[in-house]
Formats: sequence, structure tokens, C-alpha cells
Amino acid sequence: HMECRDRYFMIAVDFSFTGEEPRFEAVGTGVYLITEQYAAQCGYSVSVLPLQDQVVLRASYFSCHTDNTDDEVFTFKFNLIANHEGKEVTYAMNKTCSPSLPWSPREVTCEENYMEVSVRSDVACPTGTKKDDWDAAVQTSYTSATTDWQVMFQRVEQELMPMNLSEAQKQGYEFDLTDGRLVFRTPYGQPDCFSTEVNGVPVEVVHATLFSRQSWVVLMVDLVAACSLEGLYDDDGYMMWETPEVLHPLVSGLHDTQVHIGVDGELVEQPVAEERGYTVEKHNATVQISIPYNAEGGYRKSFVDDDLYEYYVFHLYLEQISVDEDHVDTRLRFHRTLSTPLLPRPVFTENAIHEEHVFTIYLGDVPDDVELAAVNLNGHKCTIPFTNTSSHTITKVAHPNNTHGYTLRVPFVDPVVIQQFSKEDAAMQQKLDINYTLTVLPENEPFYHLASVMALTDVPPVFDAVCSESGISFKLDHRPFDYLWYISIDTELLTSELAAQHGYIMSNDSQSLLLDVPLYTHGYEYKDITLKGFLGTFEILVRDHETSEVQSSTVKTCPFSTTEMICSTDGRMTVVADLSRAVPSGGIPARTNLIDKYCGPKEADDSRALFSFPLNSCGSIVKLNKGSVTYENE
Ligand SMILES: *[C@@H]1O[C@H](CO)[C@@H](O)[C@H](O)[C@H]1NC(C)=O
Ligand SMILES: *[C@@H]1O[C@H](CO)[C@@H](O)[C@H](O)[C@H]1NC(C)=O
Ligand SMILES: *[C@@H]1O[C@H](CO)[C@@H](O)[C@H](O)[C@H]1NC(C)=O
Ligand SMILES: *[C@@H]1O[C@H](CO)[C@@H](O)[C@H](O)[C@H]1NC(C)=O
Ligand SMILES: *[C@@H]1O[C@H](CO)[C@@H](O)[C@H](O)[C@H]1NC(C)=O
Ligand SMILES: *[C@@H]1O[C@H](CO)[C@@H](O)[C@H](O)[C@H]1NC(C)=O
Ligand SMILES: *[C@@H]1O[C@H](CO)[C@@H](O)[C@H](O)[C@H]1NC(C)=O
Repeated sequence: HMECRDRYFMIAVDFSFTGEEPRFEAVGTGVYLITEQYAAQCGYSVSVLPLQDQVVLRASYFSCHTDNTDDEVFTFKFNLIANHEGKEVTYAMNKTCSPSLPWSPREVTCEENYMEVSVRSDVACPTGTKKDDWDAAVQTSYTSATTDWQVMFQRVEQELMPMNLSEAQKQGYEFDLTDGRLVFRTPYGQPDCFSTEVNGVPVEVVHATLFSRQSWVVLMVDLVAACSLEGLYDDDGYMMWETPEVLHPLVSGLHDTQVHIGVDGELVEQPVAEERGYTVEKHNATVQISIPYNAEGGYRKSFVDDDLYEYYVFHLYLEQISVDEDHVDTRLRFHRTLSTPLLPRPVFTENAIHEEHVFTIYLGDVPDDVELAAVNLNGHKCTIPFTNTSSHTITKVAHPNNTHGYTLRVPFVDPVVIQQFSKEDAAMQQKLDINYTLTVLPENEPFYHLASVMALTDVPPVFDAVCSESGISFKLDHRPFDYLWYISIDTELLTSELAAQHGYIMSNDSQSLLLDVPLYTHGYEYKDITLKGFLGTFEILVRDHETSEVQSSTVKTCPFSTTEMICSTDGRMTVVADLSRAVPSGGIPARTNLIDKYCGPKEADDSRALFSFPLNSCGSIVKLNKGSVTYENE
């Protein structure tokens, strides 16, 4: 992808096309391999951008091998050398650009790897230079000036050493005289560059004075670049960068400055910048830029170093222009990569209620570039997705904030769950240790997150009960720890003897206990008795072996139909009598009564009558026996 931007030309190549280390050659009168050092001297900048999967080459319009026509039409030619499966392939590329933005009297570019300044060559007299420096420079240049251009680098308290341009080039500096401009470029960190603070901001400065004698006139041009270097970040989630409002006090008057912010080498409109949260503030003659970590235009990457970390990168592009009496005097463009250090980015797990005997564990805050690869459940390795035959499941949950989570559900009965009895809690303990394997994409770098959940369940035992026509059936599956309890009917321990005595049908094997309790046997309670039917209730209790305290009970109530019955509860006798058998000739059931003739049936149909009366009323005959009382009625 080739593009002419207003202050540079760029080529972007996807890794998928070239691999991560393509090389570029600049093509001019010869072919020049763009090495790191050569790039910085000649106005090229090659960046490998792993987060964008791209390699980007930027070339200054004044780069060494660019064909420049009148500072208006620029033709670039490059070779891209890519490696395709071990074979080098060269692609020739060319493009002609005519930047629409006119050149300002002074243009400064603070690239990632070099500083470049160009000035209109007909603006010969700099303003604002301190008198002393001027004198020293003039003296030196006046005496050593020849018709060839020479350069002096000015540093604080250092002797001025003029040199010719070929000598300067040997030392890594590049000068060029185009149709209308003088161009000077230097890599950062050159011996004649110096670090200083301007308004409290550390900057690297280079100050070159070019001069040439044209008979009795000495021409002098000051070329100054000052680039602030380091970005900062803070804990509140901002990447910051600052630059002095004035390029360099020696060579810039106090002009009005305007700042335009951009990203990835392109300026954005002010409203867009505001919407994305990019801020520009001016304090104390410095310009401060703040970019939220996760602002649009930036990049985020997860990183594993035992635990999960993340970092943010923002390719800041900035234009700072000083406006002098209605025209742009100096235009500065910065390319700066702001980045945060590694920031901890923990994922978390949360255990939900163990409803319905299922562990539900939520793993959350998983960034988009991280994926769950496997889950180890108590030492059982389960790859994602789980096979659909397993009873444990995992579901991915996406959130709008670029994170996602996973909900893991493991029923207590799943074979991976460790069950053991906890004497302390007198309960069954279910335990699940989880080791999540998460991987950061695209490198597939794994890290692990551990979680452990435990639950206590279900003690003491509870019977299953079902109704039948003739009674109630109870069933209990034996569990290894059931020796802690015993089963009783009311207060009596359930044994085969007791069952036989009361007419219960009991069968007990190693798997389960079955108890059939026929209707009307000992232990039933009846209510809602009508001629149509009634409800019979039977209760089985589970008691603690040591204390005999009731730990649980299984109560089952079933509907039964009535033919004949007698029962008494709470001092009340209830009788359903079939009169068709008692009175063969067929009396009228509604007109029957007890010994007390005023006690008639509560309910009657064609053949049956239902009486319900207090035991000691309706003429009941009371007999006192040894240890019991009998109430008799007719
Ligand atoms: C520039 O590239 C185009 C195709 O991309 C090609 O046709 C043309 O010949 C090239 N020109 C030069 C001068 O290499
Ligand atoms: C430039 O200066 C160097 C060292 O002072 C000298 O050797 C060289 O001849 C000069 N080159 C030109 C073109 O004057
Ligand atoms: C501005 O600079 C002065 C002097 O360096 C300093 O005292 C003051 O605190 C600064 N103000 C701000 C807002 O940074
Ligand atoms: C499990 O997956 C297999 C193959 O994908 C499919 O044929 C089967 O119906 C699935 N079973 C269930 C219970 O979903
Ligand atoms: C993302 O959203 C989810 C669901 O609203 C929330 O639980 C989580 O804490 C959020 N994560 C971050 C990093 O904001
Ligand atoms: C989690 O699983 C990984 C990979 O199987 C293993 O290297 C690591 O030791 C496990 N962690 C724990 C605490 O068991
Ligand atoms: C039923 O059998 C189990 C062992 O098979 C025994 O532990 C238990 O006491 C028995 N229960 C009754 C009520 O007999």
C-alpha cells in the first residue's frame, strides 16, 4: 500500500505478504539498502508494527534518493525484498507525489529516527539570534567563508569548528540544496546534538549554521531542530507527551502556536480528536498531550510473563505551527510512539450459588486477544470445546467492553468432582480444583489461572416416595457415609423385625432400601375424609446415631379412595360404614344414627354413611382397661 501524505510518502506492507523482516532499497542513481543508520541519515524511517501486522516505511520528501522537481513533484522508487519460504523476491515500486500543502518558510520533522529541518533559501536572515552568538558565528564564518557552503554546529560553550559539507556528511549529517530550500538532517544522538531542557521539557537540539561567501556578501542560515523525546504515562490511564511551545529560545520569537493532533501519521479533525479523548493543553509555555490508554487509534496487546499483562501503544502524530503575522512561520511535525510499560491485567473467577447441585464458575475479564484453550478439572484435562457427552459444559460470554468470559458448569455428580465426607461439617464435601489454560493470540503463549470451589451437600438422606393404590413406597439409595444415621418410624428404629411386626414390606440390599407401607398400617395419619376419599400421610425420620436428634424426615401424603374405614385422631372418631352389607334389606344410610339417636351421619350416599364425632360423645361406652381406655359405639 503506497500513499502520498502531506509531509511524507509511505509504504505499508502486511506481514502476511512479507514475513516480519522485509528489507527496502532506495532506488536513485544506484540502489541503496536502507539500513538503520542509512535510514536515519537519508530521511527514511522503517517501523515494524507487530500490533498492526505491518511494516511501514516513511520517506521524507527530501530523502536522499527522491527525485525532486521544483519542490513540487517528488518521485520515489523503492525495492521491497520479501522472503517467501526461504526465497528472496524483489518487488519494484514507484510513486509520484505532489503534496498539496505548501511548504512553510521553515519545516521541522521530528521523525522516530532523525530530525530534519528545511528552510526557504531566500529567507536568509534569521531573527532573534542572541547578539553574542551572532557575533561569534559571523566572525568565524566571515574569516573562514569560501564560496562553497560550510557548516558550523553551535553548542553551548563550545568552539565553533567550520567544516565543508562532504566532511559533515561523512560524520552522518545530510545537507541538501533543492530548488528553493536548504535541507538539513541528522540522526538523534549525534556528537553535535545536545540534550537540554526547554521550559522544563527535555529536548534534543541541533543547531547548524550554514554559510557561504558570495564575493563580499556572507550568507548565513541557521538550521535548528529541537525534538522532545520521551513519553510518559500515568496511573489514571493516560499516555502523555509534552513539547515546548517554542522550538528553541535562540531562534524562535514568541509566536502564536497552534497544535493539531493525529495518529498513525495522519492528523485528525479537532472534533474527532475530542471525541476520542485526545487532549492538548498548554501550561507554562509547554504543550501537553494526553491520550487515554484505550483511545481509538491506539493498540492494545496482552502479554504473558507468568501472569497476564497488557500494554498500550499509540503512534502519535503532531503538528505544531507558529503563526507569525497571518502566515505560518514554522511547521513542526512529530512522529512519536507512546507506550505504557507492562500493566497487570488479571482475569478473575467468581463462583455462583451451587443451585441444583451444580458448580457454576465464571471466568471474567478475559481480553479479546486471549482465548481459553483447556480446562483441567481435578487433574482431568478437558480441551475446549468439551465433548458433548460430558456433563460439564462451558459457555463463552461476550461483553461490549472488548472482554469476554466463560461460564463453566459442573454438576456435583460429574465423575471429575471429588466427593468426600467431612466429619467436621457432618456433610458431604464436593471439591473441584480448576486450572484454566488461557492463550494469548496470535503467539499462542499460555498462562494459567487457578480456582478452587467446594460445596457441602445433602446430608442426611432423604427418601424417594411414591403413592400406590394400596399404600406408599419409600426408596433410599445407600451412600457410604449413611452409617451416621438411623431410620425410624416415629420413635421406633426401623429393623426387619419392626417391619414384620407392623406389616411393612421391607427389602434391603447393598444398593438400596425399599419400604412398602400398606394403607391402614401403623404410622399412618388420615385427613380430609369424605365418602369419595381421604388423604393418608406417612413419615419416615432420619435420626443422628449419637444424639437421636431428627436430622431429616420424608413425609409423603397420598390420596386414597374410601370404601369402609374407622380411624381416630385427636380424640375424634371417623367411620365410613357400608350399610348395604350390614343391613341386607337395604336401609336408608342417611337415616342411620349412633347410640345417641341425635348423632346422625355427616355425609351419606345410597349405601354408605360417614360419621365423625368426639370419642366420648354420641353415647359412646367407655371402658377402662389396664393401661388403656376403650370407647365403643354402635
Ligand atoms: C512504476 O510502476 C508502474 C506500475 O506500478 C510501472 O508500470 C512503471 O513502469 C514504473 N515506472 C518506473 C519508472 O519504474
Ligand atoms: C572537506 O574537508 C576535508 C577535511 O577538512 C578535506 O580533506 C576535504 O578535501 C574537503 N573537501 C572539499 C570538497 O573541500
Ligand atoms: C510554571 O512554571 C513555574 C516556574 O518554573 C512553576 O513555579 C509553576 O509551578 C509552573 N506552573 C505549572 C502549572 O506547571
Ligand atoms: C454430539 O455430537 C455428535 C457429533 O457432533 C452428534 O452426532 C450428537 O448428536 C451429539 N449429541 C448430543 C447429545 O448433542
Ligand atoms: C467488562 O464488562 C463486564 C460485563 O459488564 C464486566 O463484568 C467487566 O468488569 C468489564 N471489564 C472491564 C475491564 O471493564
Ligand atoms: C496448571 O496446568 C499447567 C499445564 O498443564 C501446569 O504446568 C501447571 O503446573 C498447573 N498449575 C497447577 C497449580 O497445578
Ligand atoms: C440395609 O443394609 C445396609 C447394608 O447393606 C445396612 O447398613 C443397613 O443397616 C440396612 N438397613 C436396615 C434398615 O436394615
